Amino acid sequence: GGATVIAIDGPAGSGKSSVARAVARELGFQFLDTGAAYRALTWLILERGGDTDDEATVLASLGALDTLELTIDASGQRVAIAGHDVTEAIRTERISAAVAGVARTLPAREAVNVRFRAIIAAADPGIVAEGRDITTVVAPDADVRVLLTADEAVRIRRRFGDVGGDEQQVGARLSARDASDSRVIDFLHAADGVTVVDSTDLTFDETVDAIVRLATEER
Ligand code: C5P
Repeated sequence: GGATVIAIDGPAGSGKSSVARAVARELGFQFLDTGAAYRALTWLILERGGDTDDEATVLASLGALDTLELTIDASGQRVAIAGHDVTEAIRTERISAAVAGVARTLPAREAVNVRFRAIIAAADPGIVAEGRDITTVVAPDADVRVLLTADEAVRIRRRFGDVGGDEQQVGARLSARDASDSRVIDFLHAADGVTVVDSTDLTFDETVDAIVRLATEER
């Protein structure tokens, strides 16, 4: 009984967000993009002229998490912090490049995790939550736990297809973010009980189907 919780982790460019959202839509579930919380806090610190690499600055910003609004609608997520709608603004390269300082600050992780766990506990009729540490830290008891991966060259090509620009630069940024994130959380190896879904040779729809099937078997 109770809500079905699907946890999905993976590296940058693995397609986590779009796959997780599509899985949620197909199952009629809610959708939680945990990276949006890290990005929103990063946006606010930069907006206030702060430096995310300064731990004291990050710690001083944590109170603003009380104002974080994260909708969990699979048909269209909205993110706001301190009264600013940052839904679009958090997707820029400027934010991606500065988010690491927030992600490695443990009290920041603990503060957002409290929010995530409350959202997951209230899920109805189910929720798909994606990030880097959902299968291991945020929701280790999830009904379905997936590590979504793909070869790095394929992830870079997909990301380049989405954002354009210079492919080598896109690749360098993606690798750098994975390197810095994996120093904080190991999302490159599956923890016990976590199913690896490697999308290297799968289409988007095949990847979504593979996860939906895991969820259906579970019920
Ligand atoms: O998934 P997304 O690329 O939006 O995440 C942005 C950043 O937030 C990641 O690069 C990582 O530093 C951080 N993050 C995290 N733990 C999560 C989700 C995101 O540390 N569960």
